[in-house]
Amino acid sequence: MTLEQIRALVTDDLAAVDRLLRERSRSEVGLADQVARYIMGAGGKRLRAVLVLLCGRALGGLRHPDASFLLAAVIEFIHTASLLHDDVVDDSEVRRGRATANKVWGDEASVLGGDFFYSRAFGMIAEIDHSEVTRILANASNAIAEGELLELMHARRVGMDETQYLTIIEGKTAKLFEASCIAAARIEGASDECARELTDFGRLLGAAFQIADDAIDYLEDNPEADKSVGDDLAGGRLTLPYIYALREASEKDREFLHHAIQSGQREHIQEVCAIMHRSGAIDYAWKRAGEFAQRARERLDILNPSPWRDALDGVTEFSVSRRY
Ligand code: FPP
Ligand code: MG
Repeated sequence: MTLEQIRALVTDDLAAVDRLLRERSRSEVGLADQVARYIMGAGGKRLRAVLVLLCGRALGGLRHPDASFLLAAVIEFIHTASLLHDDVVDDSEVRRGRATANKVWGDEASVLGGDFFYSRAFGMIAEIDHSEVTRILANASNAIAEGELLELMHARRVGMDETQYLTIIEGKTAKLFEASCIAAARIEGASDECARELTDFGRLLGAAFQIADDAIDYLEDNPEADKSVGDDLAGGRLTLPYIYALREASEKDREFLHHAIQSGQREHIQEVCAIMHRSGAIDYAWKRAGEFAQRARERLDILNPSPWRDALDGVTEFSVSRRY
């Protein structure tokens, strides 16, 4: 299933969410308004919003549409806030096919733009007025920040292993996927058993998505890339392909990888990509991403058959077959 086919199942719902995103991005403050229009206007996959809508439709048919639309918009705002911050942390140049906000307006504006979105999300969470959903979103936001700090602590530490990597990505990425599914389930009033399965679904899907993202950062030729490549190398981030290659590549290649990650020089990226390819690190990352996606999709058995359940299955497939 393509992303377009998946999105087509919730076209009207997504249009309502997009309207909210536009309306709630407005500000009287010129710079806030400019940054917000720029980043929201760039689009993006809106995958987390799609998850909220599909879970809601699959479970109860969006019994409380206003709350579900607000939830989808809140999650996109938290995600956007985290990307505005992340692009400063990673000194990234391209996002969603455009220059990053930090390259257009500088680091200060990008960080403060992130704060703008994050604080707008607070107000919308209050509008949803659902204590369990508030708790889920508060915990997820905190886990994202902790995941990022953990990643920073491990930067350039070549001893990092796969378990530590998985802990990082569970925090920085998987938690928001998880929150999208479980908060949508809570709004529909789903059973505890169903909520538990969807929590696992979101977490496993989020891990699969991030592993795929980390493989994409080392693809040799990728015309579909819509963001800077080589950021993980420059930032000394030990992602799954790198961890694997440091273990399995030839001795000469391993030495090069040690040097490249310590120095963080972007000019090493081509050689590093070549090593990733010949050591089997990219194949390994896709394989692991596929395993997580498969485990995620098994959790969907809890849902009654419906086109929305099939589309959730399609999201798992898309997450590990995409190249952008
Ligand atoms: C992308 O990772 C980044 C994240 C998934 C999270 C970033 C979070 C923060 C900077 C903390 C701020 C938190 C809040 C809630 C305001 P990546 O760099 O691996 O992916 P990329 O290639 O898309 O940049
Ligand atoms: Mg980044």
